[in-house]
Amino acid sequence: MPRVRKAVLPVAGLGTRFLPATKAIPKEMLTIVDRPLIQYAVEECLAAGIEEFVFVTGRSKHVIEDHFDHAYELEATLEARGNKKAELEAARDAIIPYGNAVFTRQQQPLGLGHAVWCARHWVGDEPFAVLLPDELTLSTPSCTAELVAEHERSGGSVISVVDVPREQTKSYGIVAPGKDDGRIAEVVGLVEKPDPAKAPSTLAAIGRYVLLPEVFSHLDKHEKGAGGEIQLTDSMARMIGHAPFHALRYRGTRYDCGNRMGFLEANIAVALAREDTAKEARAMLARLAKNT
Ligand code: UTP
Repeated sequence: MPRVRKAVLPVAGLGTRFLPATKAIPKEMLTIVDRPLIQYAVEECLAAGIEEFVFVTGRSKHVIEDHFDHAYELEATLEARGNKKAELEAARDAIIPYGNAVFTRQQQPLGLGHAVWCARHWVGDEPFAVLLPDELTLSTPSCTAELVAEHERSGGSVISVVDVPREQTKSYGIVAPGKDDGRIAEVVGLVEKPDPAKAPSTLAAIGRYVLLPEVFSHLDKHEKGAGGEIQLTDSMARMIGHAPFHALRYRGTRYDCGNRMGFLEANIAVALAREDTAKEARAMLARLAKNT
């Protein structure tokens, strides 16, 4: 069975829920404490042993490409100053090794399924991961590492899910579960953004997937689904029954950074969790709580 070596990172969306911040800055470059969301996604892949990246970008997203490259002037200046070792390391930390990233364009944001399809030539005929970088997941092992391990066990597709309140099903791809041991559920159906009254369960996909390459033959059809967009969920649903397909409950912490409050919470939570910021963040929160 081929190893999962590649990850597709779709970053061509418009980020309309975050306007005006996302007018000129890609949503994926918004920072959680001091690193952009997209860097967390790349680090999650690396922690899962995935070292090749296909970024599906769009217009005004070129800063993402720059983020993973050398910043020669900056690095030279920091080096010349002599006392900026940590800053220099931080700047170099994000660099992806030579030839390990490709940036392809989705010329129009026609939907997540279409964005993934744009990566087809770079993925080829092997299983691959998909990560939506505006979902921040924090755990050891990483969310993607858990999916990779489950894929290695089953040989099929695996998606990460969490239980959401029923009224939220209309914001997610929802799984119809079959055999379920409380941690891993067989996927017998998938529906994008169902009305709460009609949702087959409350198990929601959270933007982390390991998929078999057969998904591309379904995406090839460019069928529009919920919201008039080409949905990844619809093509994944067509794979059910042809190869193993499981939903793995994610037990780590996740933040939907595509909306303002999720983003704010992620910033606070990460600042409180990090050794270098925890003390000050706690004091700041106590101060703010007292003054409001
Ligand atoms: P979202 O729906 O959360 O992102 O897509 P969006 O469309 O950018 O945001 P809103 O809803 O307008 O605020 C999830 C991920 O899929 C990518 C986005 O960049 C994001 O990472 N995406 C979405 C694409 O790459 N292309 C698309 O056509 C749609």
